[in-house]
Amino acid sequence: MIVQLFEGIGSGTSIMIFVTIMLIILSSWSIQRPKNMPPGPIAWPFIGNIPSFFGKSSLKVLTDFSKVYGDVYTLKLGNRYVVVVNSIESIRETLVKQPVEFAGRPRLYSAELMTDNYKDIVFSDYSPIWKLHRKLASAAIRNYASGSHLEKLVDGIKPKLDAALSEKGNSAFDPKLIIGYGVYNILASMCFGIEYDFDDPDFKKLMNMLENITDVFGEGLMADYIPGLRHIPTPGLRNVQNLFSEYLAMIRKEFKRHQDNFNPDEIKDLTDFVLAAQQEAVEEGNDNIADLSDDYLVQTLSDIFGAGSDTTTTTLLWSIATLVDHPDVQAKVQAEIDEVIGRTRSTNLNDRGSLPYTQATIYEIMRYGIVAPVAVPHRTISECTFGSYRIPQDTWVLINLYAVHNDERHWEDPHEFRPERFLSDEKCQVERPDSFLPFSAGRRVCLGESLAKSEIFLIFTWLFQTFMFVKPTDMENVKTAEPQADSGLIHIPKPYKVLVEKRF
Ligand code: HEM
Repeated sequence: MIVQLFEGIGSGTSIMIFVTIMLIILSSWSIQRPKNMPPGPIAWPFIGNIPSFFGKSSLKVLTDFSKVYGDVYTLKLGNRYVVVVNSIESIRETLVKQPVEFAGRPRLYSAELMTDNYKDIVFSDYSPIWKLHRKLASAAIRNYASGSHLEKLVDGIKPKLDAALSEKGNSAFDPKLIIGYGVYNILASMCFGIEYDFDDPDFKKLMNMLENITDVFGEGLMADYIPGLRHIPTPGLRNVQNLFSEYLAMIRKEFKRHQDNFNPDEIKDLTDFVLAAQQEAVEEGNDNIADLSDDYLVQTLSDIFGAGSDTTTTTLLWSIATLVDHPDVQAKVQAEIDEVIGRTRSTNLNDRGSLPYTQATIYEIMRYGIVAPVAVPHRTISECTFGSYRIPQDTWVLINLYAVHNDERHWEDPHEFRPERFLSDEKCQVERPDSFLPFSAGRRVCLGESLAKSEIFLIFTWLFQTFMFVKPTDMENVKTAEPQADSGLIHIPKPYKVLVEKRF
């Protein structure tokens, strides 16, 4: 039949039949899942399961599929197979038991644009260069952004936060700008030794840029799933390119300023720290000098600044929202801080063990708000297994942390806010259940976990020691801590307003 078709290929009907047959062959090939992969919904030709997400919350779609196909299932996004992991048990089987195999990162066009061709930590593949920069960033944070260094950085911003909150008087306000100001300034001092004024246009521009970047990564570019689209220069793509280059230009400017004034005997911040590592490599004639080039170091700093800002700000915004919804919890936190710390001194990091209820409340906020609902996409770097299933090399893997933190098999009434679930029976000790993984797990576990937990503890305890947050009277019957519909990469609360009163 095919021969006859070619013989009569000049006629219009034959061409149509030929094209139809080729389309059918191509489509069935494109929807066929490789043998033994985890099950999943039937995919459309070429676009796969992308239409399942149109107009719906992607977290809900991802989580609902797990109820039909199990804890680990396969989707097709464009021309890509994507395995979705939805429970603590399946995270153990994958990220924890096969850590290296699952430690790759997909090549996303959006990431390529942002990271100067994958010179960063977050999106670069599992490789010696990734390890080198992860180690360098961890050492920088350990030396210049933990313990008393971090306490000093947080203390430095308190007077401005205090003034900004105190001047709100009786007017209801959205705390996003003030909290964002505090967190961004701590990071800016930590990374670059700079501090912005509240009304500094550069600060507002930076905050907008980072929010927009988070949105881009949350929504992804179609070219991430359908690679051919990267060659179509749409206005949307150009906007994204401009956004990324503007953000990187800001980091490069600070990096250059540090290079021009660098004094190895006076390391003041993380930029000085990475420059010192570069200088040492040059002086010692190390083989890895090229891997510590300026471009790589700029990306390492951009990651610390970028990954640490919106995640921490959003956790604090969930904190205020949940505690105005639960004034009883707010009162207990304040009573514990008053009793253990008093009102004349601020908390320090050594106080964490003596404030179990407060610490349990922070953990419950992290579970309930789950700021990073899906980990940064992983990729299998070799063939892996999950039970009797096979996951081929180069498969994308999504870790659905939202599903893990709302799994009824591990959390009783997961949609309720209950700090007590993190307390021992005697209520005097914090207990961290195994299924609590807001920072993910395995080789790509959040690099800033310890920094984030310390920083959030210091800001949170100061906020609620110093202020009482309440709902505006016209909002008394409205829930404040509601997620914004499809907030993407970062799970943010809907914008809300509160009233604030100084406690003493
Ligand atoms: C509440 C705050 C935070 C949360 C909930 C959070 C959560 C996460 C999650 C879920 C991942 C993905 C892990 C994976 O791919 O499996 C991640 C990666 C990462 N985070 Fe965080 N993060 C927070 C704060 C921070 C801070 C303050 C920093 C600053 C250093 C940071 C730096 C990073 C980096 C560099 C990665 C990429 C690690 C890699 O690919 O090797 N994060 N984070």
